[in-house]
Amino acid sequence: MLPFLLSLLCCLFCIAVRSCAADQQCMLVSHLPQTGTNDRNTSSQTPPSGTSSSTTSSSNTSTASDGSGSPPPLAPFAYGQDVIRGVNLGGWFVLEPWITPSIFESTNNTDIVDEFTFGQLLDNETALSILQSHWETWYTEDDFVAMRAAGLNHVRIPVGYWSVPITSADTNSSTSVSPYVPGAWPYVLQALNWAKNNSLHVIFDLHGAPGSQNGFDNSGQRTDTPEWANGNANISRTLDIIKFISENVGGMIDVLELLNEPAAYVSNIDAALPQYWQQGYGVVRQAAGSDIQVMIEDGFLGVQSWENFLLYPEAEGVIMDTHEYQIFNYDQLGLSFQGHINASCQQAGSLASYAKSNLYTIIGEWSTAVTDCAKWLNGRGIGARWDGTWQPNQQVFGSCDGWTGNMSTFSAEYKTFLRQYWEVQVQMGEAIQGWVYWTWKAENADEWSYQKGLEGGWIPQDPTDLMYPDICSSL
Ligand SMILES: *[C@@H]1O[C@H](CO)[C@@H](O)[C@H](O)[C@H]1NC(C)=O
Ligand SMILES: *[C@@H]1O[C@H](CO)[C@@H](O)[C@H](O)[C@H]1NC(C)=O
Ligand SMILES: *[C@@H]1O[C@H](CO)[C@@H](O)[C@H](O)[C@H]1NC(C)=O
Ligand SMILES: *[C@@H]1O[C@H](CO)[C@@H](O)[C@H](O)[C@H]1NC(C)=O
Ligand SMILES: *[C@@H]1O[C@H](CO)[C@@H](O)[C@H](O)[C@H]1NC(C)=O
Ligand SMILES: *[C@@H]1O[C@H](CO)[C@@H](O)[C@H](O)[C@H]1NC(C)=O
Ligand SMILES: *[C@@H]1O[C@H](CO)[C@@H](O)[C@H](O)[C@H]1NC(C)=O
Ligand SMILES: *[C@@H]1O[C@H](CO)[C@@H](O)[C@H](O)[C@H]1NC(C)=O
Ligand SMILES: *[C@@H]1O[C@H](CO)[C@@H](O)[C@H](O)[C@H]1NC(C)=O
Repeated sequence: MLPFLLSLLCCLFCIAVRSCAADQQCMLVSHLPQTGTNDRNTSSQTPPSGTSSSTTSSSNTSTASDGSGSPPPLAPFAYGQDVIRGVNLGGWFVLEPWITPSIFESTNNTDIVDEFTFGQLLDNETALSILQSHWETWYTEDDFVAMRAAGLNHVRIPVGYWSVPITSADTNSSTSVSPYVPGAWPYVLQALNWAKNNSLHVIFDLHGAPGSQNGFDNSGQRTDTPEWANGNANISRTLDIIKFISENVGGMIDVLELLNEPAAYVSNIDAALPQYWQQGYGVVRQAAGSDIQVMIEDGFLGVQSWENFLLYPEAEGVIMDTHEYQIFNYDQLGLSFQGHINASCQQAGSLASYAKSNLYTIIGEWSTAVTDCAKWLNGRGIGARWDGTWQPNQQVFGSCDGWTGNMSTFSAEYKTFLRQYWEVQVQMGEAIQGWVYWTWKAENADEWSYQKGLEGGWIPQDPTDLMYPDICSSL
């Protein structure tokens, strides 16, 4: 999700692309729940039920430790040949106010606007208890069963750095995650097993880095001054975290995305990013070998800014991820339905041209939302551009009624458009190496929910079942 700075961005239609290369070997790994995390005492947490308890060592995890209940092997995915069709598991391991507003409301504190302030302003016990119940319930294996039944082959799992239980043996940097509340790791491991058990390949997405890589609430911390690239300390800590993930769950995942949405329109992030991608690539290869795809992003610069980057023979098995939303600036909000479709068709052409001569490319986030009306989409307590509640003296497009919330308020015309908009973006993704929808579910924003789209009929149960296959004459 791209919040409110995006009108500044150079790319009119931001897209994320991932490309996958080479065959990938997915090794079977057993459950590895673990109760000790970071430097903080979390021993009172309950690991997910149904998982055995053993500790995660720093050795690789290619061997099953308990045989029983282990999911069957999942055949490697043929990246570059087969199309990634996936969905994001948003708001699970990184809280987002608009995805689960009820969690934020339950704090009775309007200063709690992200997971950072959630940990900072609640007492530890309350915070941990709310989070544990969220980790246990926001997704269950039934969701994975439903995703598979909907013809999807990948899940992208956003995880914050504070949930990765790195120890002082793994880094020379600090291991403190304060004020974040650690403890999600066993649930992350359970998610990896649920994915495998349901034949879903996993993109493990480091969604929040130390210091924040973009200042969005979805990085964990909403701030005007993201500090990730302010000096080298946070970056080198991030590389140690990538190493830990590679060593500990490299055999349970298919793709490791080195960082979500680094804001390369901020100069120090722009300056640091190419080297971070290169070093991160090296870390993954050294720690987990070549059976894992490494995913990088365009940093909002547009994929064309990454021509000739990390190509063979410098690297192999790298995928570019670009994110596509057409709702975070006034020009895009002003597009008609047909205007949005045209914009997607145009974007499809430029992505395909990049993917053809550069990295395999995917759209790792996109949605059918055509307004920024979902409550708190731009941040808790912040309104929408659409209805003029974001900032005064700006263009207003109309009321938000009927554009968000419960689909029972959606008109037939709107639902027809949602189907067309879903299809045109799927075709963009199918023309390259794939697509991953944002997001599987949201408490009260059906226009963003894949699950609700299936229920409401604007997303087909079989994603190859297109009603408008010629919607872009150019594709
Ligand atoms: C951690 O918390 C548990 C339960 O509250 C307590 O029994 C244990 O002594 C604590 N351990 C440390 C190292 O503080
Ligand atoms: C795997 O999936 C099957 C079928 O949905 C389910 O019965 C079983 O409990 C799952 N096993 C594990 C280890 O998650
Ligand atoms: C918020 O207020 C409600 C109603 O007074 C109360 O039940 C609940 O425990 C409060 N939540 C927190 C985190 O204090
Ligand atoms: C920590 O620093 C020492 C001394 O520079 C170095 O030998 C070691 O490899 C570093 N460890 C990590 C995990 O970076
Ligand atoms: C809450 O956790 C923080 C971070 O670990 C710690 O510094 C603080 O002492 C804890 N507070 C309480 C009351 O346990
Ligand atoms: C990130 O880097 C800044 C500047 O070096 C530092 O002040 C901050 O503590 C770091 N943040 C974390 C979480 O390590
Ligand atoms: C895992 O460890 C085994 C035994 O040490 C080693 O042969 C193998 O290459 C390692 N695999 C990875 C992916 O690191
Ligand atoms: C969309 O593209 C078609 C074909 O190029 C064009 O005829 C039409 O005017 C465009 N509509 C909008 C609203 O941009
Ligand atoms: C959505 O609206 C329908 C019809 O009014 C209602 O039955 C349903 O409970 C609502 N769903 C939610 C999540 O509020």
